[in-house]
Formats: sequence, structure tokens, C-alpha cells
Amino acid sequence: MSEKELAARIEGRKAVVGIVGMGYVGLPLARTFCAAGFRCVGYDIDPSKIARLKAGKSYIKHIPSSTIAQMVRSKRFRATGKPADLRACDAILICVPTPLNKTRDPDMTYIVATCEMLTSVLRPGQLVVLESTTYPGTTREVVKPILERTGLKAERDFFLAFSPEREDPGRKDYTTETTPKVVGGLGPRSRRLATALYAGAIAKVVPVSSCEVAESAKILENVYRCVNIAMINELKVLFDRMGINVWEVIAAASTKPFGFQPFYPGPGLGGHCIPIDPFYLTWKAREFGTTTRFIELAGEINTSMPEYVVSKVGDALNRSRKSLNGSKVLVLGLAYKKDIDDLRESPSIELIERLRHHGAKVDYNDPLIPATHKQREHNLGMKSKPLSAAMLKSYDCVLISTDHTVYDYPWIVKNAKLVVDTRNATAACRTGRNKIVRA
Ligand SMILES: NC(=O)c1ccc[n+]([C@@H]2O[C@H](COP(=O)([O-])OP(=O)(O)OC[C@H]3O[C@@H](n4cnc5c(N)ncnc54)[C@H](O)[C@@H]3O)[C@@H](O)[C@H]2O)c1
Repeated sequence: MSEKELAARIEGRKAVVGIVGMGYVGLPLARTFCAAGFRCVGYDIDPSKIARLKAGKSYIKHIPSSTIAQMVRSKRFRATGKPADLRACDAILICVPTPLNKTRDPDMTYIVATCEMLTSVLRPGQLVVLESTTYPGTTREVVKPILERTGLKAERDFFLAFSPEREDPGRKDYTTETTPKVVGGLGPRSRRLATALYAGAIAKVVPVSSCEVAESAKILENVYRCVNIAMINELKVLFDRMGINVWEVIAAASTKPFGFQPFYPGPGLGGHCIPIDPFYLTWKAREFGTTTRFIELAGEINTSMPEYVVSKVGDALNRSRKSLNGSKVLVLGLAYKKDIDDLRESPSIELIERLRHHGAKVDYNDPLIPATHKQREHNLGMKSKPLSAAMLKSYDCVLISTDHTVYDYPWIVKNAKLVVDTRNATAACRTGRNKIVRA
């Protein structure tokens, strides 16, 4: 198929969009393209996900099963575990994980495995877009050479672009459809086609001059968050020593109508992005003989937060002549942020492990995560304990790690012996303030 033919298929919404990786990014993207009238093929190596999608069921809290069922019924969406089904797709969007390995270097195995799989289906006239967050240069240096093993040439026979995903699970004011999408092509043809494809489903597309600019823009967004969160975490520790409430300080500073954007402290960084992506750039910077000091320092401060919180729990218990060793601690909220069911890189996990290390007996409650599942680095093997007044009273300390909206904070404070609050969730509690410690 020629560039013109592909452009016409995109224009007429006849193009079939294949999505590799049906996770937190891939599934909302499939929904977005289906809603815009495209046909979508969702490919994943996890057979349980494919089975659920085929049955019209969702496994992501903020995507209702009714949406998946409707996508399947309309015949616009088809889930598959067979690579060959991607051959018929006009565009293939790659949304596979990009974690760090044990030595905190980029783990490119998912991207590489995907590209190797694609060599068996790639055909002339296809558009391939990498969406996974990664270091600048990945599309050109990693994806292109593997795909070109087919003998097809990028920008001549097939088209290649990078377009970072900006998914923010749980966010209500912006969706995949309404969040502007940055697109960088390997060359002008790839950029034109990728821009046209996304413009068919997303309100605003922002073409940039290269894949590298698009890759860097995503990393910049995440470095910006990581560094600012570290700064406020550092100030939290200082203000606490000075007897100043950092939350009140942030609220006051936020009244400035220009030149200030609030960031909030917490028990540490969580999620698939902010604790990880900046280090992709750190790794790449070494190739250019340079360091990324802001990123390193931010990482150091943010990763020290769980231990800081544990020390605050220890201090708070100490006030009532108790030690961490042997105390019963209930961690409230396991997800990495409020109102979502994702526990990847969640600081709550680290808090639980550290508290246990100090000899505390730890349980957790999270209405959105009834039981923990095995992760790459952790396997807590825990179940959420149902909340009750008597149960809250039975713990020496209740540690608020994730401030889910469903929690009744005044009720929690009323019934707990001691509350350590890492999220300012108890700010509105009028009674029992002497039981609350900010951390
Ligand atoms: N979750 C977010 O909020 C978010 C936001 C922006 C960007 N991102 C980036 O998007 C990418 C995907 O993240 P995610 O949160 O969707 O991850 P995820 O773990 O939720 O989903 C990834 C999916 O890819 C599948 N997969 C793994 N290897 C595969 C392979 N070889 N072939 C096919 N499928 C494969 C997994 O089974 C899984 O279903 C990452 O690079 C991430 O950094 C994530």
C-alpha cells in the first residue's frame, strides 16, 4: 500500500488500528479509536486479558465492562493473542511496558520482543508508532533496525513514528480523547501519516520535527514532576522540624495567580511513570558523557520518603511508650494514588516492607485492591482487611498512605488510637486532632 492509499484509509476511517499491549495505556487507546469510528485489533501476550476482553469484560477500574462489551458488540474491537492478526492492520501502536531493570537501567526487552514479533507481520504501507515512554533515540536506534530486518525500509516502505502516551488513570477532567497528543515521525511522511491518524480520534495533535523531540518531551514532562515533587518532599521535612504545616504553606503559595504551580508531598513516588522514566534519560546521558544531577537528587529525596514516614510512625508510637517492634499498624490505601486500583511501584508496598523489617505487624485496607498480586519485585501475599470501628481500635497506629475518596476520615480518626497522615487527608477532621501526626 502506498502512502497515499494509507492516508486515504485514515481519512475515511477505514484504517484498522492494531494496538500491542492492552494495559493501562493500550486499552483506553483502543476505546478512543473505536469511539472515533476506527476498527481496532487489541493484541496482548497475556491470555487472561485477551479472554476477558473477548468476553466483553474490563480489568481496569475506570473502564467499565459495558464499554468493552459495546466495543466488542459493535464489531469495531477484536482482542487477539495471535501476532498474525496484526498483519491486516494499517497502523500498529506499541504500548508495552518500559520498566527499569535491577541495576536501574532501561529494560528494553518488551519493546525489543514486540519489534521482533512485528518482523513476522510487517508489510509495505504499514504505520508503526511507539507509544511506550522511553529515552530519546529509541525509535530510531532500537525499533527501526529491528523492523528493517524484514528488508523493508522505514519512511520508504513502511512508516515509523513516536507518540508519547499521557494517560493519567483516574483523571476525570481530561481523557485520552481530549489530551493533546505529541507526534514525531522518523521523517516527514511518517509524521504526516501519524498526525493524520491521531487527528482522527484525538482533539488536538501536536506534530514535532522528530521522534527524538517527541521522546524527549515525554521525559521532560515526567522529570518536571519528579523534581518538583522531590523539592516539596524536602521542604516537608524541613517545615515539619520548624513546626510549620507544609500543606498550609502550599495552599497559601497557590493563591499567587501566576508563576507558581503546586506540587504535593507524599510517602514516596508511585506508578509506572514518575519513579522510572527520568532514569531512562539518566542512562542515555551517560552515552554523552554527562550527568543528570537534578534527576539523581530528586530520586534520592523521593526514595528516602518511605523511611522518613516509617521514622515518623516510630516517633509517634514512642510518644505513647510503644515501639515499632511489636506494634500493630494498619496501612490505609495500597494503590499508588487516590481512587485507582494500580499498585505498581506504590510507596505503600515499601512502607509495609519497611514496617515489617522493623518488627511491626502490618495489615492493609484498600477497597480498590482486595488482595495483592505478585509483582516483578514484590509479593506481599496480603488481603485487604475490612474496616470497622472495633478493627480500627485494635491497631496501635493507622497510617494513611493513599487518600482514597471513599474513606470516612473523621470516623477513622474517631476510632483509631493514632493516625499518621502522609496525604493531609485528615485536614478537615475537627475532633481527635491530638491523635494525628503529619508525615
Ligand atoms: N500507566 C500510565 O499511566 C502510563 C502513562 C503514560 C505512559 N505510560 C507508558 O506506557 C507504556 C505502557 O504502560 P502501561 O501502564 O499500559 O503498562 P501495563 O503493564 O498496564 O500494560 C502493558 C501490557 O503490555 C503487555 N505486553 C507485555 N509484553 C508484550 C509483548 N511482547 N507483546 C504484547 N503485549 C505485551 C502486558 O501483558 C500488558 O497487558 C509504558 O511505557 C509506560 O511507561 C504509562
